[in-house]
Amino acid sequence: MEKRTVIVTGGNSGLGYQCAKNIAMKDKDYTLVLACRNPEKAAKAIQDMKTETGNENIYSVALDLASLDSVRTFKELYKKENFPPLYSIVCNAGLNRTPLEYTKDGFEMTFGVCHLGHFLLVNEMLDMVAEDGRIVFVASDMHRPPIMMSLTAPAFTDAYKLAYLGKNEKPSGKDMNLRYSMAKLSNILCVYEMADRLNAAGKKITVNAFNPGLMADTNFMPTGSKVKKALISAGSTMVAKLTNRYGSGLTSGKELAKMITEESFAGVTGKYNDRGTITKTSEPSYDKKAAKKLWEQSAELLKMNQDEMIL
Ligand SMILES: NC(=O)c1ccc[n+]([C@@H]2O[C@H](COP(=O)([O-])OP(=O)(O)OC[C@H]3O[C@@H](n4cnc5c(N)ncnc54)[C@H](OP(=O)(O)O)[C@@H]3O)[C@@H](O)[C@H]2O)c1
Repeated sequence: MEKRTVIVTGGNSGLGYQCAKNIAMKDKDYTLVLACRNPEKAAKAIQDMKTETGNENIYSVALDLASLDSVRTFKELYKKENFPPLYSIVCNAGLNRTPLEYTKDGFEMTFGVCHLGHFLLVNEMLDMVAEDGRIVFVASDMHRPPIMMSLTAPAFTDAYKLAYLGKNEKPSGKDMNLRYSMAKLSNILCVYEMADRLNAAGKKITVNAFNPGLMADTNFMPTGSKVKKALISAGSTMVAKLTNRYGSGLTSGKELAKMITEESFAGVTGKYNDRGTITKTSEPSYDKKAAKKLWEQSAELLKMNQDEMIL
């Protein structure tokens, strides 16, 4: 295999760490770049991953997806390192932020990090991605929330409403969870639209979405006392198993890594991989007008210039 670089956002923890580790283990010609916001956590993850895999080609480049400056600076920092050719970007970092928080640019945090930050990152980096490169967005089955949270699968209407929640609005926990659903629906709409645009531009780069399932072994679950965490973790694992939503960082990380390393994914694009099986997403996620509107409004919100918009 020729030398290749794979960027994994949020590669210091949970699913991102496991994905990066499995790629690093597959072949020492893979260089892994963990794109992380916390340098200490990144350094520790690199050390652990080198020990676990025996691959010495593991690095980090600073990236805070909650800051557009940081996302734009990432490309410059990355270029200076002269890594082998860029083959893949795994858009994995994410959070479900309650109580309400805002990014440095004033966007609601969950939508800002999960969708807007990654949208900008991928568009910025696209001209460096290899001809047969692969891009993956980590989405979630929460784009179609369980029936007790929402009777119908949510549909996208307006990116401005997702980005700018009124400062005086006080959304309930349920509303905030639906915002996470919308952020993950946005990841899927973005994948479908990007796949169409890449195809129309005659590019062979593939882009797909991935659902890892409900994982209680990552840092995603709410923080709190050890007892509280253990109870939430046990409860959600039981519900996830009963409802066929179970995942884990260990197993889902392997499946996610395969989307980058395995020949079976060559040429596969515009698909949703649910823990190893290509499946359908919610009906509203196939709304092409919605996907186009999300794309155009995202570019407006991010004030992207022509150089940043190849597609
Ligand atoms: N856990 C689940 O049940 C579940 C289910 C479906 C989908 N997912 C998705 O899976 C992905 C990985 O989550 P996980 O479960 O592995 O959780 P995790 O262990 O908390 O990992 C999340 C990663 O995202 C990083 N991150 C958060 N905000 C960031 C920012 N502003 N800039 C850069 N990096 C940032 C975190 O960095 P720090 O370490 O510095 O915080 C961490 O590395 C997420 O996209 C999540 O939405 C999770």
